[in-house]
Amino acid sequence: MLVLGIDTSCDDTSLALLQDGKTLLSNVVSSQVDLHRVFGGVVPEIASRKHVELIDGLYRETLKEGGIPESSVDGIGVTAGPGLIGSVLVGLCFAKGLALSLGKPLIAVNHIEAHAMSIFLEREVEFPFIALVVSGGHTIMLLIQGFGRYRVLGSTRDDAAGEAFDKIAKYLGIGYPGGKVIEDLSAKGQGDYVTFPRPMADEKNYDFSFSGLKTSMINYIKKYGVTEDNLSNIMASFQEAAFDVLVSKTTRAALDHGIPRIVVGGGVASNGRLRQVFTERCKKGGMEALFSSPEFCTDNGAMIARVAYQYYSEGATSSLNVAGYSRMKIR
Ligand code: KG4
Ligand code: ZN
Repeated sequence: MLVLGIDTSCDDTSLALLQDGKTLLSNVVSSQVDLHRVFGGVVPEIASRKHVELIDGLYRETLKEGGIPESSVDGIGVTAGPGLIGSVLVGLCFAKGLALSLGKPLIAVNHIEAHAMSIFLEREVEFPFIALVVSGGHTIMLLIQGFGRYRVLGSTRDDAAGEAFDKIAKYLGIGYPGGKVIEDLSAKGQGDYVTFPRPMADEKNYDFSFSGLKTSMINYIKKYGVTEDNLSNIMASFQEAAFDVLVSKTTRAALDHGIPRIVVGGGVASNGRLRQVFTERCKKGGMEALFSSPEFCTDNGAMIARVAYQYYSEGATSSLNVAGYSRMKIR
């Protein structure tokens, strides 16, 4: 079964062809980072206009790379939300047009669910497991009992983890997007240079908050200043505080629920230091930490195709009337 996956939820136009849920024939991601860099963040209007320009050409490229004619596509998976609504609608309308013209089913996919399940592109994972999705738009912890069987344990009450990285990088004018810039700077710094607060770390719930951490870092810089010499130390200290909270609360949830497996997905999960801290702490607690390859952590069409494949093989396809959503609950 050959499934096309389309994601245009934010600023990447991504399409992929997945055979039988495991063999990736092609995976095309066109990043708009260069367009948005000058603004220090994604400009929704520009993002959706660019998706409109790019999507058909990238679709042809995806077919060419996969070496298959479009008539071989059996189903079309597409992000229906959550995301920037203008961007979501471009991919969704394109997918509906394809479904109509090819006479093939449409499978609407939740973008957060796809981040949580992207690991299945590369390996099987025993259920149940705890999933943490950390991206630019979301920070959410789930208890997953199977495809379509999700319980939200907690989420951020303000900024998403990646959003905090991006906002700090913007404030300091050190580059865009902030996550990778801060990871690279932190690699040269000392994580214990400043002890930033660990917001909500000791609370009994599984929610997060990153806005206060961001503010305390900005206040620190206002008070003590930042030099070329201590920038990497301050970044490393911020990164350490953010990751400490993510890892402590997620490992605690796994222990509380007696589940020895944690899957981490979303753009921030491509961070080498986060992967290291999770792996070390899980090992200490007798648990396993699992990650997708970095290319499947950031936005991609392959993860959408994987979830769509699952639902299609279970006979759950979507109506062509399905709507796009900027916010969308996970089932
Ligand atoms: O999953 P994603 O590609 O898009 C959303 O669904 O949001 O995640 C993008 C986010 C951005 O906030 C970006 O700064 C962050 O992931 N990110 C990272 C790294 N690479 C991307 N954050 C920390 N370290 C990284 N290496
Ligand atoms: Zn994403």
